[in-house]
Amino acid sequence: MSKLAHAQWSSKMTFVLAAAGSAVGLGNIWKFPYMVGESGGAAFVLVYLVCIGLIGLPILIAEWLIGRRGQENPINAMADLAKRGGHFPAWVAVGISGVLGGFLILSFYSVIGGWSLYYTLGSVTGNFSGKDADGIGAVFTGMLGSPGLLLLWHTAFMVLVIGIVARGVTNGLEGAVRTLMPALVILMLVLVGYGITTGHFGEALAFMFSPDWGAVNGEVVLAAMGQAFFTLSLGMGIMMAYGSYLGEDVNLLSTARTVILLDTVIAVLAGLAIFPIVFANGLDLDSGPGLIFVTLPLAFGNMAGGTILGLMFFLLLTFAALTSAISLLEPAVEFMEERTSLSRVAATATCGIGVWLLGILALLSFNLLGDFLILGFNIFDLLDNLTSKILLPLTGLGAVVFAAWCLDRQGVAQELRLSGGAESLWVVVARYIAPLGVIAVFVNSLVG
Ligand code: PFF
Ligand code: NA
Repeated sequence: MSKLAHAQWSSKMTFVLAAAGSAVGLGNIWKFPYMVGESGGAAFVLVYLVCIGLIGLPILIAEWLIGRRGQENPINAMADLAKRGGHFPAWVAVGISGVLGGFLILSFYSVIGGWSLYYTLGSVTGNFSGKDADGIGAVFTGMLGSPGLLLLWHTAFMVLVIGIVARGVTNGLEGAVRTLMPALVILMLVLVGYGITTGHFGEALAFMFSPDWGAVNGEVVLAAMGQAFFTLSLGMGIMMAYGSYLGEDVNLLSTARTVILLDTVIAVLAGLAIFPIVFANGLDLDSGPGLIFVTLPLAFGNMAGGTILGLMFFLLLTFAALTSAISLLEPAVEFMEERTSLSRVAATATCGIGVWLLGILALLSFNLLGDFLILGFNIFDLLDNLTSKILLPLTGLGAVVFAAWCLDRQGVAQELRLSGGAESLWVVVARYIAPLGVIAVFVNSLVG
């Protein structure tokens, strides 16, 4: 396989958009608010922001560096770079666990993508109009209780993902992301505006930003770190795979800043949109994965033009989920395409069907398999916890340690366009702060 033959992004802009498209997704709008709600609010938010800056940023850059130098799928890239530098062959484990993590995450991500599709349709057919909190709640529980319905929408979502990935990553992605991101931000602002009219905005602000430090424990910090990994698509091979399509001209540091800023702004806006509605309607803060699916339809049902706004919102949520899901399948497909004789289409179908099957187990945990517990978790929660709290952080840890300790320091400094104090800062953060941060959180949550 000639290195030169490896495809590249058509422009710097496409890369930025694809990386942002991967980062911004259900993690921001669906997961962030419910994690904040479950973990007690502001203390979680602030720990999360620290994790994004001190751990997320260096690991994002480390993954791009590895991908760009390897110019191959994450598994081969790690194997080659380790070999070239005379390091342990075992470093390949970082690539393997990344590809595996992406695969596992997509299985349950697709189930939620399916909910989003179902709610898009429900907005069109007026399924939510004129309902109170109980009525909206009943739509949600009804959906969860129906394996057939969940299967239908999970399948529809996976068919879309497979269809797009089979045609190649860059086709169509650029245009989609370029229009959808701004639309998403505007719609979130409209929702925040609605939150202000509920009269409970102050309460929401206090909940999100005025911390009760007593609420911080090992569990909260681990959850915050896991969310930082999840939301930035770290530890899953994605950013490594995307980096492998990257030319030398892209400035990694400034690109990382852009992606992180956008991702964080959208997550915070989602929180500011959702919590006023939660307080205004006396809903449960810790209603978990269902949070946005019970709060937002309620808001849309009560505001002028709510039907059309609701439709737009769930459509955008679906698109955001799709652009992330596409990125999740990519590392596994890239691997199969480069390592086996399968064509791109066949590789995509193979991986996609595997993910789809696993997703069926995940969706059954809301109904038929609800009592089937492994280590005290149902299958959905097991996949979620296993990936975001263990697999992603460990893979990210491996990536940043490898980039900071095993790649040549001068070369990396040049590549990141850093010199002097800025370069030393990078070295301190990437060699010590980020890895020790990840390790400390683990140890703390084990003993805590
Ligand atoms: N970063 C995406 C989000 O926040 O929704 C989710 C995600 C995409 C997680 C891709 C992991 C991933 F590899
Ligand atoms: Na995200």
